[in-house]
Amino acid sequence: MITVVFGARGNVGRHVAAGLTARGDEVRLTGRDPRTAGFPPGAQIVAADLERPETLPAALEGADRVFLYAKPDGIDGFVAAAESAGVRRVVLLSSGAVLDSDPEHNPIARSHSIVESAIEKSGLEWTFIRPGMFATNALWWWQRSIRDEGVARLPYPEARTAPVHEHDLAALAVTALTEPGHQQRAYTAFGPEALTLSQQVRQIGAAIGREIDLQVVSVEQARTELSETIPAMGVEAVLAGWQAGTAEPPEVSTIVEEVIGRPGRTFAQWANDHANDFR
Ligand SMILES: NC(=O)c1ccc[n+]([C@@H]2O[C@H](COP(=O)([O-])OP(=O)(O)OC[C@H]3O[C@@H](n4cnc5c(N)ncnc54)[C@H](OP(=O)(O)O)[C@@H]3O)[C@@H](O)[C@H]2O)c1
Repeated sequence: MITVVFGARGNVGRHVAAGLTARGDEVRLTGRDPRTAGFPPGAQIVAADLERPETLPAALEGADRVFLYAKPDGIDGFVAAAESAGVRRVVLLSSGAVLDSDPEHNPIARSHSIVESAIEKSGLEWTFIRPGMFATNALWWWQRSIRDEGVARLPYPEARTAPVHEHDLAALAVTALTEPGHQQRAYTAFGPEALTLSQQVRQIGAAIGREIDLQVVSVEQARTELSETIPAMGVEAVLAGWQAGTAEPPEVSTIVEEVIGRPGRTFAQWANDHANDFR
């Protein structure tokens, strides 16, 4: 039984691939240019681009299950190729943004909803993982300034978020791919605890054994800095999420515990796992 992992070098995809491999499952890794992806030697590897449907039959041949990133531009081609290859089950890394009360004005919500709808209408078994803010976003926000200057610049130091560890998202995906009872279900996945941004920075400092200088900056300066590392669509979403986190406590979730039977990983654990990224 072959499981195809799209985005197998992604933050989440690489842990999905590792989790399946650790179970002894037959896994096929894909990337748009797998030669540059740093995949482990001996792995089954196929080049595939979700936005180029002609690349999909080779990737999906003989496959039973698929881990998928949301690419609206190619989704109809993916569904057709998956159905004709005999794929049975798809686990999609979607976004909690699809639950936005005004999705039409939220480009992240819109793009993920397009993908979810196409899969829902198909004959495939599906599970949607709908995360809130990833803990790995801290690399976008602060990796360079912490590593190079020992500084984190924040417009809203007291804003709270509930970052979710990429390992937990991958673990949810592996469970949904390999165990019964998760079909036609959507799991909203926030982190297990709400922390202010300054607490998050302090936890990174504790993980790397270095005092980090917290500097409060204007929203405009934060926008400029974020634009250097985040795609444009993400910058406004991050700023809006932070601003919302100054007014209301963010949602946390226990979905990891419910589905996998162990608690979700904390941000302190994430900071320890990524300490070398900030050194
Ligand atoms: N960051 C957040 O806070 C957040 C919150 C909710 C949801 N999400 C969703 O989570 C996803 C990002 O997850 P991540 O951090 O694991 O991603 P990532 O590390 O940025 O990796 C993205 C992966 O997607 C693959 N990919 C990109 N375009 C592709 C295409 N046309 N065809 C096939 N593969 C393609 C890339 O593969 P190659 O480059 O190797 O081809 C890469 O492995 C996004 O869809 C985002 O909307 C993110």
